[in-house]
Amino acid sequence: MNEMARWSRTGDIVLVPTMGALHEGHRELMKTGKALAKKEGTLIVSIYVNPTQFNDKEDLKSYPKTFKKDYELCREEGVDLIFYPSDSEMYSGRKSVSVTEKKLTQHLCGATRQGHFDGVCTVVTKLFNIIKPTTAVFGKKDYQQLAIIKQLVSDLNFPIEIIGAKTVREQDGLAISSRNRFLSTKERKQCPAIHEALVAMALSTEKQCPELIALGKSIIESKAPLSGIDYLEIVDRQTMEPIQTIDRPALAAVAIILSNTRLIDNIEIDSL
Ligand code: PAJ
Repeated sequence: MNEMARWSRTGDIVLVPTMGALHEGHRELMKTGKALAKKEGTLIVSIYVNPTQFNDKEDLKSYPKTFKKDYELCREEGVDLIFYPSDSEMYSGRKSVSVTEKKLTQHLCGATRQGHFDGVCTVVTKLFNIIKPTTAVFGKKDYQQLAIIKQLVSDLNFPIEIIGAKTVREQDGLAISSRNRFLSTKERKQCPAIHEALVAMALSTEKQCPELIALGKSIIESKAPLSGIDYLEIVDRQTMEPIQTIDRPALAAVAIILSNTRLIDNIEIDSL
C-alpha cells in the first residue's frame, strides 16, 4: 500500500477492480482498460476478495483463489501492475466509516443482499483513494454495481471516468462467472435459458413490462425447471427503479438460484 502511495504517475491510470479467479469476462475488462490506457498510460488490476461485501460466510470461504493463474492472465493482457493487498492492509485497526448508496441499492440484488453494496462502495472508494486512477472499468454483467459506482463517483466528486464493458458469455449464452464452476452438469445444461429469456424480452415488440416479464419467466420456467427465479425485473437503466413501459433506456435483469448457486444476468432494452 505504501508502495502505491510513493509510486510516481504519468499518463492515464486505468484500474480494473476484481476479486481474482480471473476469467474471460475479466480479460475483456483488461483489454478495454489497455486500449484506454494507450502506450503512455498504466493498466492496474486489483485483486482482493473483499470480505465486507459477502452476506454469507460460507460463500466467502468457498470463493476460489487462483493467484498464479490470475497473474498469468494479467501478464498475457499487458497489465502493468497488480494491486494484491492483504486483509490486514485493507481493514486493519478499528473501522467506523463506510460508504452507503441509498437509492439504487434498494432494488434488484440490493433488496435481498443486505449490506452487500455498502461493502462494494466502501472497498471501491478505498481502492480509488489508494490507487488514484483516472479511469476505472466495470462489467455490465453486474449492471447494478456499475450504476451504483457511477453514482458514487458523481456524488463524492471522484475525478474518475467510469467505463462499462460488455458481458462476455459462453458459446451457449451463459454469462461467464466464477460461480459457474459450482453448477452440476444437469444444472449447467439448463443455463442457456437465462440469456434466451432476456434476448426474447429485448427482441419482443411488446412495450408493456408486465407482459415482457411474463414472457421471460415462462421461458426460464419451462427450459430451466431446476432453477428458482429470485427476481426478473425491468428497470430504468440509471436509477434501477422498476418501470411499467419501455419508454426510456431500460434494463431487464434476472437473478436465479440453482441449488446453492446464485446467477445474475441482464440485457439492455432500448425504446424505439
Ligand atoms: P468480480 O466479481 O471479480 O468482478 C470484477 C469485474 O469483472 C466486475 O466489474 C464485473 O462486472 C466484471 N465481470 C464479471 N464477469 C463478467 C463477464 N462475464 N463479462 C464482463 N465482465 C464481467 O465485481 C467485483 O468483483 C467486486 O464487487 C469488486 C468491484 C471488485 C469490488 O470488490
